Amino acid sequence: MKRRHDELSDVARDFDAMVERLEVLVSSREQLLHDVSHELRSPLARLQLAIGLAHQNRDNIDTSMQRIEGEAARMDKMIGELLTLSRAEHQVVDESYFDLYGLVDAVVNDARYEAQVPGVTILLEADTEQDHTVKGNAELMRRALDNIVRNALRFSTREQTVLVDLRGTEREWLLCVTDQGPGVEKNKLSSIFDPFIRIESPQSGKGYGLGLAIARKVVMAHGGHIEADNGPQGGLTVRIFIPRWQETVAQSH
Ligand SMILES: Nc1ncnc2c1ncn2[C@@H]1O[C@H](COP(=O)(O)OP(=O)(O)OP(=O)(O)O)[C@@H](O)[C@H]1O
Ligand SMILES: [Mg+2]
Repeated sequence: MKRRHDELSDVARDFDAMVERLEVLVSSREQLLHDVSHELRSPLARLQLAIGLAHQNRDNIDTSMQRIEGEAARMDKMIGELLTLSRAEHQVVDESYFDLYGLVDAVVNDARYEAQVPGVTILLEADTEQDHTVKGNAELMRRALDNIVRNALRFSTREQTVLVDLRGTEREWLLCVTDQGPGVEKNKLSSIFDPFIRIESPQSGKGYGLGLAIARKVVMAHGGHIEADNGPQGGLTVRIFIPRWQETVAQSH
């Protein structure tokens, strides 16, 4: 086939490319399934242990119950996040529109409320005169942004600032979330968007490493892309690009 240069060889090449894409898809599904089963094992093991202890020693039933509740809540949170992840993957961005600036503003305000405790400032910069209409699913986008801003907050310490900057170019919106925290080692930068990837550090927290995976799926479902980079003075910047909704283009279809 390789030596031929006609329609048939074109079809063969397309077919090979399709098989390759399907293989990647299937193996990433298998990997995800494997990771999910693995991650569910530890809370389940602790749950069973707590039930066993409660049976053995009725005096300690309160401690066991607390443990059981805690582990059940963790599993519930994880399954909820996995459902969001799979919904973001399968969503067909429907005929619904939202104001991207309004959404960013709401997410920033929620984060500011939490940021009072560690004493972190969250700044929002945007040109409010512009029309920030975007086509897609506002709820999924809100979760994506919330995950990114809350990561930035978690890696910040007292008196540091998180900057959220929204600006438009002719074709797309660019949203940058920059913190002054430790950043991410260069060789791990590309993997932080994969499910269940957490880099061990004191700030790692109790997450499942699903936040940025959800964010990437959501942004891609909106026809955009996402990247992360360390700033020149340290700190992480996450950049989201989302296509602008253009009335003229929409109407001509
Ligand atoms: N702003 C940041 N500064 C430094 N490291 C970060 C930052 N944001 C994310 N990371 C790194 O990327 C990893 C993946 O982030 P992600 O949001 O996917 O997971 P998580 O926050 O650990 O857990 P989850 O979001 O599921 O609660 C984090 O564990 C952390 O190591
Ligand atoms: Mg997170």
